[in-house]
Amino acid sequence: MNAPAALEFENVVKRFAFGETDVLAVDGVSLSIAPGEFTAIVGRSGSGKSTLLNLAAGIDTPTSGEVRVDGRALASLDDDALTKLRRDRVGVVYQFFHLLPGLDVRENVALPLLLGRARQSDALARADALLAEVGLAPRARALPHTLSGGEMQRAAVARALVHEPRLLLADEPTGNLDTRAAQVIELLRDIGARHGATVVMVTHSLEAAAAAARVIEMRDGRVVADRATART
Ligand SMILES: Nc1ncnc2c1ncn2[C@@H]1O[C@H](COP(=O)(O)OP(=O)(O)O)[C@@H](O)[C@H]1O
Ligand SMILES: [Mg+2]
Repeated sequence: MNAPAALEFENVVKRFAFGETDVLAVDGVSLSIAPGEFTAIVGRSGSGKSTLLNLAAGIDTPTSGEVRVDGRALASLDDDALTKLRRDRVGVVYQFFHLLPGLDVRENVALPLLLGRARQSDALARADALLAEVGLAPRARALPHTLSGGEMQRAAVARALVHEPRLLLADEPTGNLDTRAAQVIELLRDIGARHGATVVMVTHSLEAAAAAARVIEMRDGRVVADRATART
């Protein structure tokens, strides 16, 4: 039997009430992403990319349709099981990184483990190992506000991977730092592969998307193109 898809959407609709009218942020999306695949989601602002990632992360629930992670329908999980799945199986790199200002870099990276049941010394040792992997070891004791944008990105990637998630979701990790976009994408690609994670990355950078093995284009909440690239 084949392994289940890492991530599946089946006829997923997400409608937001917006004043008098409704917004169809995601309008009937079906897709399947295989374990270990590196996928970019592109499309102009407002096309539903972030909503799609939030649905995949279980942060948001669909209006209709089904989202499955590792073959498990998120809607079938109770709160505890969903929390556990999000804590153990899914890592998210947020668009604005969301590093906590009062914690230093290694504490920020260790946080997902510290919120679980890990021993503090183990969690910090894991954080140090990840920071070394992303080239941030020298900045481990720095506070986030002293980091450059590129360093914040790398810290956010390290934090998203610290609990060895099977699925890594990244929302515009290239931010406004277009000159560094290619480097962040290479980092996500390499580190995702090394950790055996499936990576789904939202980006508006075509250069970044070109580094992905598969590019899904969204427009008005729908998938309008889905193609394999020369990269694998
Ligand atoms: N919480 C929300 N409430 C109302 N409308 C929303 C909400 N989140 C997103 N939207 C709307 O859904 C559409 C898709 O948004 P989004 O997924 O953020 O797009 P993208 O990430 O591609 O820029 C937009 O029209 C946006 O205004
Ligand atoms: Mg967005």
